[in-house]
Amino acid sequence: MNILITAGPTREFIDPVRFISNPATGRLGYLIARKAKKKGHNVFFVVGPCHLPPLKGVKTIEVVSAVEMKREVEKLFPSMDVLVMTAAVSDWRPAKKSSKKIKIKKRWTLKLVPNPDILKFVSGKKRKNQLVIGFALESTSILKNAREKLRKKKLDIIIANTVKNFGTSQNTGKIFMLYSDGKMINLSGYSKEKISTLLIKEIEKWKEKVMC
Ligand code: CTP
Repeated sequence: MNILITAGPTREFIDPVRFISNPATGRLGYLIARKAKKKGHNVFFVVGPCHLPPLKGVKTIEVVSAVEMKREVEKLFPSMDVLVMTAAVSDWRPAKKSSKKIKIKKRWTLKLVPNPDILKFVSGKKRKNQLVIGFALESTSILKNAREKLRKKKLDIIIANTVKNFGTSQNTGKIFMLYSDGKMINLSGYSKEKISTLLIKEIEKWKEKVMC
């Protein structure tokens, strides 16, 4: 299969030396990409700025901003069987990037504009034989909010996560895998390694089903 995986944060620059971002490590996406490659799939990895070693045999495209990530995902998506969107895309960017370093000032307001929702955009163009997997990061009402994202973004699978698991190497909070047909698997306590193995298995099961 052709599998596209996104990972890491995006950076939205305010001026040449400052940006808005988040502490995503990119590790889960990285593990999924590595596992998929090991299983013989054709893997494409679109990654925001993070400190991950190179993945041998994986076509890796490094991006910085959400707009850049969208451009690359949009280009690749039509020829993919599967998209796994683990990236922590910044929901906003500064309305204007200053070309010069902004000078010190006492109090000022930074105007933000919304970034495109990459997942929603591409899954709106999904063909019948494509599988789209997203993630949901929630502080409260994890299942309710994740189900809503699954529906609104027209996903096949969503992995619902609490903010407790964000930016860390250990998963200590709740995690659930929710399917569009209502099926749910509780992954709470699973390591990122174990989640990536399970996810690849689920992707392979789906492929077998669509080929029948
Ligand atoms: N996502 C995306 N583009 C965005 C924001 C999010 O593609 N601009 C994707 C993420 O990669 C993830 C899913 O959408 O797979 C859900 O992301 P999440 O941060 O949980 O939710 P948001 O859609 O940003 O909504 P909110 O911040 O209101 O919870």
